[in-house]
Amino acid sequence: TTVHDLTLQRGNGGELHQVAEEGQPVLTTAHGVPVADDQNTLKYGERGPALIEDFHFREKMFHFDHERIPERVVHARGYGAHGYFETYDSLAEFTRADIFQRAGEKTPAFVRFSTVAGSKGSFDLARDVRGFAVKLYTKEGNWDLVGNNIPVFFIQDPIKFPDVVHSVKPEPDRGFPQAQSAHDNFWDFISLTPESMHMIMWIMSDRTIPRSFRFMEGFGVHTFRLLNENDESTFVKFIWKPKLGLQSVVWNEAVKINGADPDFHRRDLWDAIQAGDFPEWELCVQLFDQDFADSFDFDVLDPTKLIPEEVIKPIPVGRLVLDRMPDNFFAETEQVAFMTQNVPPGIDFSNDPLLQGRNFSYLDTQLKRLGSTNFTHLPINAPKCPMHNFQQDGHMAMRNPVGRANYQPNSWGEGPREDPKRGHRSYRDEVEGPKVRLRAESFADHYSQARQFYSSQTAVEQKHIAMALTFELSKVETLAIRERMVAHLLNIDEALATMVAENLGIREMPEAADAAVSPRDDLEPSAALSIIQN
Ligand code: HEM
Repeated sequence: TTVHDLTLQRGNGGELHQVAEEGQPVLTTAHGVPVADDQNTLKYGERGPALIEDFHFREKMFHFDHERIPERVVHARGYGAHGYFETYDSLAEFTRADIFQRAGEKTPAFVRFSTVAGSKGSFDLARDVRGFAVKLYTKEGNWDLVGNNIPVFFIQDPIKFPDVVHSVKPEPDRGFPQAQSAHDNFWDFISLTPESMHMIMWIMSDRTIPRSFRFMEGFGVHTFRLLNENDESTFVKFIWKPKLGLQSVVWNEAVKINGADPDFHRRDLWDAIQAGDFPEWELCVQLFDQDFADSFDFDVLDPTKLIPEEVIKPIPVGRLVLDRMPDNFFAETEQVAFMTQNVPPGIDFSNDPLLQGRNFSYLDTQLKRLGSTNFTHLPINAPKCPMHNFQQDGHMAMRNPVGRANYQPNSWGEGPREDPKRGHRSYRDEVEGPKVRLRAESFADHYSQARQFYSSQTAVEQKHIAMALTFELSKVETLAIRERMVAHLLNIDEALATMVAENLGIREMPEAADAAVSPRDDLEPSAALSIIQN
C-alpha cells in the first residue's frame, strides 16, 4: 500500500484538516452537498451546545448508527471470492441448462465459505461443518449450489432445522458456548436424534477442521434432477473436488491457531489469491436413473445418506477457479444472498424433504436479513443476463417496469412475455398418497452408513474420531447424555464405543440404542471416503 504525501492544515483548536487540492475528490453528504469541515460539529459559540441544524453531522451519525444488519441465522462467519466456472464438455444429453451446453464456456461465479454455528466474529478453526455456497451467474439466470464440505446432514425433515440450530448455538440462559458444539444442549439433541449419527461421524472426523478453504470438498448433499430438452430426468448429486487435495489440521493445532490468528482461513484465501495462486475445484456429478434409485440400499431422497463413490463414480464436468477478491467485504460477501431455489431451466429438485424445506426458508431469511424485497437489485445478487418482469416498487427499488405496462397480458405491445420452450419447467413427477405427517420407512436405517464411514477411515483417522468424541463428550456435564451417545456408538463400532466409554470413565456399558432397522454388516467400507492426506 502506498502512503501518499499528506497536506494537512491546522485548525483553531490544533486539530488537523485534510483539505481537497486541485483534482482531488471533494467530501460530500449523501445528497451531494460539499462539506467544508469534517472535524467539528456546528455549535452555538466555540464552547457551546450542538445545533440540531447540523445536517452533515446528523446524516453522518445516522448512517453509522444503522451500519449493522442482522448476521445470518446460521453460517454467519464467512469469506467469499469471485471467479469463473469452465464447462469441460456438453452435457446436452442429460440437461438443457445453458451452462452445460458448450465445452469451454466460462460462467462468472461467486463463492462464500463459512462456518455454521459461530457468530460473525468467531474464530476460523472451530470444529464445525463448512459452508461451500456457489453462485453461478449463468446466461439463464443465477444457479445457487448451496452446499457444505460434508456430503450428508443432521436431519431428514426440515421441521427439525430450528431445533438442531438452537441446540448448537449458545444456550439461552447462559449465552455460551460460542462457536463450538461441546455442550450439553447439542449432545442432548443429538443423542435423541438417531438420524444424525452418520453426520456425527463425519463431524468428529478431520473433515471439520480443514487446513484451509482451498483443501476442502463441497457437496450439494441432496439428490437433484437434470432435465434434457425432452424433459427426460436423470438424478444427480453434485460434488466439488479441490485440485490441491484434502488436508486438515489436528485438534491441538486448531486450538493454537484459533488463539494466534482467528482469521487464519480468511488470510489464507486472501494471500493465495493476491499472490496469483488461484484455488481450483472440479465439479463432479454422480448420475443415476430411477432403476438405480429403486435398487440402492438407501432412499436417495434421504439427506443423511450418500452414494459411495465406488458405487457411482463422480464424473468431472467442469472447473471452478477463484481469482479475485471482492472490492468490498460488506457489499459482496455479506450481502450475497444464496437460495437453493435458484436453479436455471434444465436443473430441478427432487422430493428430498430437506431440500423442499430449504427452498422455502432461504427467500424468507433474505428478506429479514437484507431488509427489502429488492435484495436482488444489489449488484452481487443481480443476474448477469437480461431480466425483465413486472415486479415494482418496494423499499430501495432500483429497477421498475419501463413504459405503461406493469402487467400482462396487455394490449400495449409492451413488456416481457412467457416462453414455454425456453422457460423453467418442473419434472412431471407422479405423486400420490394420503396427506400425512409421516417419515418414510425407507429412511429408518440410521447406523449402517455411519458404520461404513467409520470403517473406511485409516487407523490414525479412527483415533482422531475417538479423541474428538472423548473431548466433546467430556464437556457434557449430564452423565445420562454421555451414556446415550455411547449407546448409539455401540451400533456403529463396538471398539469405538468401548474406547470412548473408558476415556469418559463410564464403568458400566449401556445397552446398544434401539435401532428401528438393524445396522447392516455387509456394506463394504467405502475407500473413496478415506482421502485425508496426512
Ligand atoms: C445458510 C436454512 C440446510 C448450507 C442458511 C441460512 C438459512 C438456512 C436460514 C442463512 C442464509 C442467509 O442469511 O443468507 C437452512 C434450512 C435447512 C438448511 C432451513 C434445512 C432444512 C442446509 C444444508 C446445507 C446448507 C443441508 C448444505 C447442503 C448452507 C450454506 C449457507 C446456509 C452454505 C450459507 C450461505 C452463505 O454463505 O451465505 N441456511 N439450511 N443448509 N446454508 Fe442452510
